[in-house]
Amino acid sequence: MRVVSGIQPTGNLHLGNYLGAIKQWVAMQDAMPEGDDCLFFLADLHALSQPVIPAELNAHNTEMAATLLACGIDPKRAILFNQARVPAHSALHWILGGTARMGWLGRMTQWKDKAGKKGETQSVGLFTYPVLQAADVLLYQATHVPVGEDQKQHLELARDIAVKFNTDYGDTFTLPEPFISKAAPRIMSLRDASAKMSKSDPSDASRINLVDDDDTIAGKIRKAKSDADGLPGEVAGLAERPEARNLVTIYAALAGVTPDAVLAQFAGQGFGAFKPALADLAVATLSPIRRRLVQNMLTREIVTEALEHGAERAAALAAPTLAAAQAAVGLQV
Ligand code: TYM
Repeated sequence: MRVVSGIQPTGNLHLGNYLGAIKQWVAMQDAMPEGDDCLFFLADLHALSQPVIPAELNAHNTEMAATLLACGIDPKRAILFNQARVPAHSALHWILGGTARMGWLGRMTQWKDKAGKKGETQSVGLFTYPVLQAADVLLYQATHVPVGEDQKQHLELARDIAVKFNTDYGDTFTLPEPFISKAAPRIMSLRDASAKMSKSDPSDASRINLVDDDDTIAGKIRKAKSDADGLPGEVAGLAERPEARNLVTIYAALAGVTPDAVLAQFAGQGFGAFKPALADLAVATLSPIRRRLVQNMLTREIVTEALEHGAERAAALAAPTLAAAQAAVGLQV
């Protein structure tokens, strides 16, 4: 088993990242049998697909790594690194660029959403972004890739690229399986339950950031969009109530129970009772993470050492697959 996943080091982690991805990363790391590897990385090369402030890029890497450690990633058990420090990602990206087809990339919903009608003015990197993502996982012969649902299409593309490469040049890559959280595949905005919770939403009230203080968390939950009805006894009763469903999903994912168990507890009660309980649960989960994050930022060497050591280990694991891919296409290096 080889677990690989990444996150962009742009700005803060939010509750969607935490429940949809990072919580799974930590659980998989903790359950990993001796001898198998988990690799988690900061996708700083991907960040270049949008304009960046150079002085901030590395600071964001450190902050994001400190946050991941605060969430429970343990550098003794998982390999934590930033993508740019392992040049094999870029090298394999270029090779796979010869295999990926324009049509496949043009169909990516993330490209269509971000490029909109202004595709011509977007960076080439934004278009080829999923090819780099394929390189990220294929480079390590990943078997499982824990992500939120929004990344599923990119991983299906990684499989398509692997299948075509293996067919054209001989078996080189393992086909990776997306591993999507059942509890929190897609956490929605607190202001608009038709949009996912996202760091690029201009409204800060739409998301709970892992650095928000207790009062801010409680205030955002108090103001979250909901409705005037009482909660039903079963999930089926939330079908036409996207805001209510999102808040119940968040509660269930935080508590580690099913939405039906949450509804069994709150059936018949309104949001006046439910929201304070949700706020207490969110604060109880997030405030210890925030405290550890502050501590990690004070003892920064631990973070930078973890990243350096992680990159060395990742580079060693990447080397044989890059060499195999180069040999398969006939490159002499
Ligand atoms: P990124 O940085 O946007 O998000 C990191 C992880 O958080 C998940 N996520 C969510 N899950 C549930 N609900 C939400 N509202 C929500 N928002 C974000 C994402 O699905 C993701 O798992 N392209 C990737 C980074 C990447 C990567 C990779 C991932 C680069 N290479 C290789 C896996 C494998 C991204 O931008 O994720």
